[in-house]
Amino acid sequence: MKVKKAVIPAAGLGTRMLPVTKSIPKEMLPIVDKPAIAYIIEEAVASGIEDILIITNRAKSAMEDYFDYAPELEANLLRTGKDELLEIARQPADNANIYYIRQKETLGLGHAVLRAKGFVGDEPFAVLLGDDIMVSQTPVIKQLIDATEKFGASAVGVQEVSLDVISRYCSLEVSPIENSIYKVTDMIEKPTPQQVFSQFAILGRYVLTSDIFPILEKTPPGYGGEIQLTDGLNTLCKQSDMVAVDFEGKRYDTGNLEGYLEATIEFALKDASVNEWLKEFIKNKANGLE
Ligand code: UTP
Repeated sequence: MKVKKAVIPAAGLGTRMLPVTKSIPKEMLPIVDKPAIAYIIEEAVASGIEDILIITNRAKSAMEDYFDYAPELEANLLRTGKDELLEIARQPADNANIYYIRQKETLGLGHAVLRAKGFVGDEPFAVLLGDDIMVSQTPVIKQLIDATEKFGASAVGVQEVSLDVISRYCSLEVSPIENSIYKVTDMIEKPTPQQVFSQFAILGRYVLTSDIFPILEKTPPGYGGEIQLTDGLNTLCKQSDMVAVDFEGKRYDTGNLEGYLEATIEFALKDASVNEWLKEFIKNKANGLE
């Protein structure tokens, strides 16, 4: 099963990041000098993905502008001899074939993924959530693609989370197959303490077969009145093989303030142009000198 297409659902309302998300998509918030969604596109491209569909909505056209050329800006950079900036400005538009479709109503992640049916056709495809940034040796979605190819199964990216936060995620019932790979037999979105299957939670990465589409078409609204991808995946894992990949890497949920600040500070600490200055700044703050 070769995976060449990816879908990035990015049509959520971003209410946890209000008020900024009133007019700026959360996927466009900068993590140092690039919007969050640029890191996700880079992960997909580094994993061999060639075509990417972003599920967007009428308030999110800033994403399309970012992945396009900017003729006026480029003409100015050329005229003023700033050739190195010209390359930086054009790079996002040249990275991959990016397509867009609007989710006309915000009816949930399952409903958003269903918008990709025509783009995907019959191929297996990757899903990367638009606000989950991953840092890893091997791109996280590549780790899932490798598992899909090895086991001929759909795959979900998981990590163990503590019991006090599992109720925010989808908890999985699993049995071990081999190192870091588990068979998925059941799952529940946002479980109560009594409903928790395990501390393995799905964290923003999936490789699915097109069998998910007829399932999502029949999936009624679930938790929070939204059409939940989890409910569709639960049916999928019972009718065909699904593996959970306990992936290597760190996940940043940039859709909430703590995750956003964590990503911003950690990425800045790795950026050669500001890291010395930032370390000094933080040290001084921590010592109460400022
Ligand atoms: P989230 O729950 O993290 O995003 O959805 P949200 O709904 O924007 O968040 P809050 O709670 O209001 O702050 C997970 C992913 O699914 C997408 C989001 O953009 C995010 O990438 N999503 C969610 C859609 O594309 N459409 C939807 O109807 C819901």
